[in-house]
Amino acid sequence: MTLAGKVALVTGAGRHQGLGKAICARLLSAGCAVALTDLASPQPLMDTANIGTLSEMDTVAADLATIGPKVIALPMDVRDEAQVEASIAAVVAEFGRLDILINNAGIGYLFSPIIDTPAEFWKAVMDVNLMGAFLCTKHAAQQMIKQGTGGRIVNIASQAAKSGHPHLSAYIASKHGLVGLTRTAALELGAHGITVNAVCPNHVTTGLGAVQNAYYAKLRGVSVEQYLADMRAGIPLGRVGIPEDTANACAFLCSDQAAYITGEAMNVSGGAEMH
Ligand SMILES: NC(=O)c1ccc[n+]([C@@H]2O[C@H](COP(=O)([O-])OP(=O)(O)OC[C@H]3O[C@@H](n4cnc5c(N)ncnc54)[C@H](O)[C@@H]3O)[C@@H](O)[C@H]2O)c1
Repeated sequence: MTLAGKVALVTGAGRHQGLGKAICARLLSAGCAVALTDLASPQPLMDTANIGTLSEMDTVAADLATIGPKVIALPMDVRDEAQVEASIAAVVAEFGRLDILINNAGIGYLFSPIIDTPAEFWKAVMDVNLMGAFLCTKHAAQQMIKQGTGGRIVNIASQAAKSGHPHLSAYIASKHGLVGLTRTAALELGAHGITVNAVCPNHVTTGLGAVQNAYYAKLRGVSVEQYLADMRAGIPLGRVGIPEDTANACAFLCSDQAAYITGEAMNVSGGAEMH
């Protein structure tokens, strides 16, 4: 499977433990040029999660450069349309084109039962997980259509796009919505040779995943180790996800082998999710 000559932009990829870094690594190892992007400044509500640091993106890029030489790091807030446009222009200036967009940026840690959830929590999650993916899709697709050689868009949804989960109503709704965006974009962009798919991982202990583990273990009154053991017991393949599972699925969906797959929401969950 080769992605030689292709150029990708991956959002929310500036954290060492995150899925985004693994996706970039996998694309680079297939010969793709990669622009990794992430937030450049602290955001309201996000400091509560203590996930990573803002200077992390440059060290992630340095690690990735050992896998493939064609990698750049760009600060980009997916909620800011001007930043999205500027980043895509920067990618085209650097690498000459854009073939692949991976909408990976997401927040999933503003936990609260619905009856106590402040509207600002709801809006913060929707703005990143759903509006951000929409803005990136809009401008990446414009560039791909201009090039006239097709393209690939992969949205990192979640098992949360298929099933409910307590205390994460906005996250769950945003990921269900992301599958709706995937299907609509697949319909609209198919005529341009652009496929649009979603990947739906189950739990992975990334920075975000670790925060979720701590919250739900405390809620259930068990240790994090016990919480994860209980989770594994419910997964047919007997383990939680690792970043490479999602990264491999992305590489496949971006490859020529997946040329006839679009509008799909593909589970990568060890069998934890089957519909
Ligand atoms: N970890 C899991 O269990 C799991 C499971 C299913 C889906 N996901 C999804 O995978 C994606 C990556 O999550 P992760 O687990 O690697 O966590 P993570 O926190 O490491 O990655 C999320 C990234 O998004 C970035 N981000 C947040 N707001 C942003 C904004 N406004 N603009 C740009 N970037 C922004 C963060 O800085 C971070 O780097 C998310 O969309 C998440 O919902 C994660």
